[in-house]
Amino acid sequence: MAPGLPGERAVSGAFPRAADAYRHASRSWTTGVALLTARHGEEVFAKTVSSLCPLSLDPPLVSVAVDRRSPIVGAVRAGRGFALSVLAADQEPLARRFAAPGAGRALGWFTPAPMRPGITGAPVLERCLAWFECRLDGVLPGGDHAVLVGRVATADATPGDPLVYHDGRYRSLGPHPAVLACALTLYVFGIGDGAPRALRGSDTVV
Ligand SMILES: Cc1cc2nc3c(=O)[nH]c(=O)nc-3n(C[C@H](O)[C@H](O)[C@H](O)COP(=O)(O)O)c2cc1C
Repeated sequence: MAPGLPGERAVSGAFPRAADAYRHASRSWTTGVALLTARHGEEVFAKTVSSLCPLSLDPPLVSVAVDRRSPIVGAVRAGRGFALSVLAADQEPLARRFAAPGAGRALGWFTPAPMRPGITGAPVLERCLAWFECRLDGVLPGGDHAVLVGRVATADATPGDPLVYHDGRYRSLGPHPAVLACALTLYVFGIGDGAPRALRGSDTVV
């Protein structure tokens, strides 16, 4: 790799510590979570992804970067289409399930995950927050990933709280559990009745 700016660290497989720096920095990037799906013949494929990117409005394009070794890449190429279902905050179990190697491949349908047939053949997850159904526009090289570019045939969304991924953890945009615990404490001990008073020794202060 050519020398960079002073203090710049090379990022490549030949420099394991720099690759660690790359991973470390990537964990700071906050994303939504989606389910990428495809159908090829009788087989359906699903994979948890965070690389969904709305790419272009005219024409309407989205992209998603997928590990080149994943069987879903071949299915998308063969079926010439894919769907992206944006997950809601309460769909974390589905995100976990379809992030497990091999779990996102089945004959017919995935029984624990209700899906409906989409217009491209790729299934769309029921009760998801938003979805894009795409015909394959192209596959771009992206290192060890293939960048699937899809022309959006149909898309829609419903209101709700999205599932978010940050620093290796699933999160939601709702109140933090500590805030909820604090609010519950205030409610149970009757502190939040609007009447100001001095704290007692038994009051919980977070
Ligand atoms: C939150 C999250 C986001 C992910 N995003 C991607 C992604 O954008 N592209 C990708 O190829 N893998 C991504 N993965 C990893 C895949 O979900 C996982 O490697 C895959 O489902 C393994 O199954 P397969 O190789 O049988 O397809 C992500 C995993 C998690 C937990």
